[in-house]
Amino acid sequence: MQDFLNWLGPVWRPHPGQERFLLARAKTKVLACGRRWGKTDACAVQVIAGLGADRPRRTLLVAPTLEQASFLFRRLRGLVEQLVSRGLWELRFPLIPKFRDSKMELTMGEHSVVARSAHSRHHLRGDEASEIIVDEAAYVSGSVVNEVLTPMMATTDGSLTMISTPNGQDHFYEAFREGLENSDEFWSLQAPSSDNPQVRLAFLDRQKKLLSPSAYATEYDAQFVQREGYVFDRTAVDECVVAEPDFDIPGPTIIAVDWARYQDFSALVVVRGFQSRASVLEVDRKHREDWFKQIAWVTDVLARYPNARLICDTTGGGDSITAWLRNELRAVSIKSFVFTTESKPKLVDGLVRAFETRSIQLPPHEALKKELDNFQATRSASGHVQMAAKSGHDDLVMALAMAVSDLPYAHRMILTTNPRR
Ligand SMILES: Nc1ncnc2c1ncn2[C@@H]1O[C@H](COP(=O)(O)OP(=O)(O)OP(=O)(O)O)[C@@H](O)[C@H]1O
Ligand SMILES: [Mg+2]
Repeated sequence: MQDFLNWLGPVWRPHPGQERFLLARAKTKVLACGRRWGKTDACAVQVIAGLGADRPRRTLLVAPTLEQASFLFRRLRGLVEQLVSRGLWELRFPLIPKFRDSKMELTMGEHSVVARSAHSRHHLRGDEASEIIVDEAAYVSGSVVNEVLTPMMATTDGSLTMISTPNGQDHFYEAFREGLENSDEFWSLQAPSSDNPQVRLAFLDRQKKLLSPSAYATEYDAQFVQREGYVFDRTAVDECVVAEPDFDIPGPTIIAVDWARYQDFSALVVVRGFQSRASVLEVDRKHREDWFKQIAWVTDVLARYPNARLICDTTGGGDSITAWLRNELRAVSIKSFVFTTESKPKLVDGLVRAFETRSIQLPPHEALKKELDNFQATRSASGHVQMAAKSGHDDLVMALAMAVSDLPYAHRMILTTNPRR
């Protein structure tokens, strides 16, 4: 590897943390590092090193979303192109890689590299790999790693690299702990963002002021901060995420709107189905738009779902905009929902149950997943349970919870549609 890094030097030089990672030779490598540490760059370089193997090699790049996987793939392509254009590639490799961007695939003789999203669980199954690299591994569900990715290497004696910002004490943490013994099989390292000389100290100081101490410790010092008081079980949420919404799911369509107040976003969620089985069809939000534009926004969404029912937040200023909407859409039934210290926990509880029973399917929406992840319950001195985002927003969570609360129970539908009953 040292020889490989010397050859790569004119185009890319690792910082000391990246060098340790690239030189580690264990079968399973786990690197917990801070934001901007250079994870994606380091993964791309490891893939290039793998192309020098004697035996045919199939490398799989996995990330929580297709966008993140394609980001890594593009970084790989960028580095290869620089090496080719400088005439360095042919000094080390007999062939020039061919890239097929539409399939996110690189081929070079008998070697291939493909990038995939962890959400395409079904497409991943049955595939085989001699090397798997998981970028942002703590955000890929443990069941995908253990039940889908690891078995892909059953016959290839392959290697697995998981690299990520920590995300609480989850499957990634378990894998990290296993690597602390540093055997031939397992290797792991914890590395702060400040390892990367490209990350300015002034930027880190600013982030320290903006974030809570535990968020900073997680995001920039790569600490495995325990997640206490979080409402939604991450594994349950992950297992509810599907690649595409199911528009054919039977049942009524509910559109829920949580109107923005002050700094928040207005959030809109479209759900179809019943309490026992439902699919989220759309998730959207708007920041600081005037009421007029927000009315047009909701009206446009409704035009795509002509038979949908609406449920709107009428807390505070929400009542006047809902009244305006009622005036615009006279024929549509619009329910009101008022957030109070009693109604909010009950609403959230319904959503927790939907995840626990895996009765709801979610599209892979980054902002919604982040909000679900950050959502906390705390008990105030007066004994009231307060529910809100630990940091950031909770508007999408509230819109989703409202929509789910309005889904009917399936048996009601059977009672009304079966004439013999
Ligand atoms: N060894 C290096 N030499 C020069 N630039 C580097 C190096 N490593 C990383 N960088 C640059 O630092 C920035 C952060 O790198 P990268 O995107 O790989 O980090 P990351 O840990 O994946 O970040 P994020 O947490 O945002 O996903 C990028 O602009 C990248 O090109
Ligand atoms: Mg990255």
